[in-house]
Amino acid sequence: VEVDWTLEAAEKGGFPHYMLKEIYEQPWVLENTLGGRLREEEGTVELGLALDPREVDRVHVIACGTAGYAGLYGKYLLETLARLPTEWDVASEYRYRDPVVDSRTLALAISQSGETIDTLEGLREAKRKGARSLGVINAKGSTLTREVEDVLYIHAGPEIGVASTKAYTAMLAAMALLAVWFGRARGALAPEEAQRLLREMRRLPRLVEEVLEKRPLVAHVAEKYHQAQDFLFLGRHVQAPTAYEGALKLKEISYIHAEAYPAGEMKHGPIALIDEHLPVVVLATKGPLYEKTLSNIQEVRARGGKVIAIATEGDEEIPRLAQDVIYVPEVHPLLAPIVSVVPLQLLAYEIAVLLGRDVDQPRNLAKSVTVE
Ligand code: G6P
Repeated sequence: VEVDWTLEAAEKGGFPHYMLKEIYEQPWVLENTLGGRLREEEGTVELGLALDPREVDRVHVIACGTAGYAGLYGKYLLETLARLPTEWDVASEYRYRDPVVDSRTLALAISQSGETIDTLEGLREAKRKGARSLGVINAKGSTLTREVEDVLYIHAGPEIGVASTKAYTAMLAAMALLAVWFGRARGALAPEEAQRLLREMRRLPRLVEEVLEKRPLVAHVAEKYHQAQDFLFLGRHVQAPTAYEGALKLKEISYIHAEAYPAGEMKHGPIALIDEHLPVVVLATKGPLYEKTLSNIQEVRARGGKVIAIATEGDEEIPRLAQDVIYVPEVHPLLAPIVSVVPLQLLAYEIAVLLGRDVDQPRNLAKSVTVE
């Protein structure tokens, strides 16, 4: 028993939980995902894929859970940067909805484990209908790696905590790589704009390291709100998936009910939930929709809601509107999700610990779901 204990302690590298260790590994993981693939000088990326990007007219993202939200981020990027029409479904819907697929459709299957049955079956369905296929995968040698034509590994290393963290940020980085790759190949992304993005991507490991230093502040926010019954998460455009993922993390490990909405949709329902008991986490980083998000914050405040804002370093307007502000470093707005999800992972973690939950093995959840 003692041997096991020592082994486990060693595997956690001095952290009390795998989840926290994995959150702290993210700078290193991003280095792995991006490091050798960025070609800033040429404004391109080197992905070593056999797939010819010119043979693809549309993308169908197929994934579940956290990987699904990474895929939703991918949709925004593929459409914005590569003008590549992209559909997004959770795999359990995709596989049964009789999707319209042809030989110029790329099935993009995203999975940490490469073993999720719905993702595998969604991919098989797309392939039966004649789709090309690409996997964005962490686990080498997994079933999914053998069933796709081509793989873009995220190189996040083994992820043990049931709640996915480092695989998510690595998947986001992989989506950015893919969007630049397609964007350049399709002539939709100018070399200078690609260069700018790639330089920003190069900074990500260091920026995430800076965010990790915010842990004491996040712990303070967790202390303040860990008794709440419900949480609402709001974000727009690329930050909508961040809101979904933040809510998912909180649900998974703290068992607090959390909902996420694209901020603009708040007025069509969730606004009825807002009162002085509801903490609302708003992704309010700088970008083209920043002002719109500020209006949403005002609407929450006008109804007594408590706002926890994730904002861009240097934003002096936000503290006047939000009760709590967690700053993240400034980065290209399309990459902001990669730095913004980190405080949400920490928030879920700190709340779960305060509530005495089993962080690494939350009830009812499995690391990989291999039965339907
Ligand atoms: C399970 C896990 C989630 C994960 C999802 C998809 O539900 O608990 O953390 O996001 O499966 O897993 P995959 O291995 O396909 O990324």
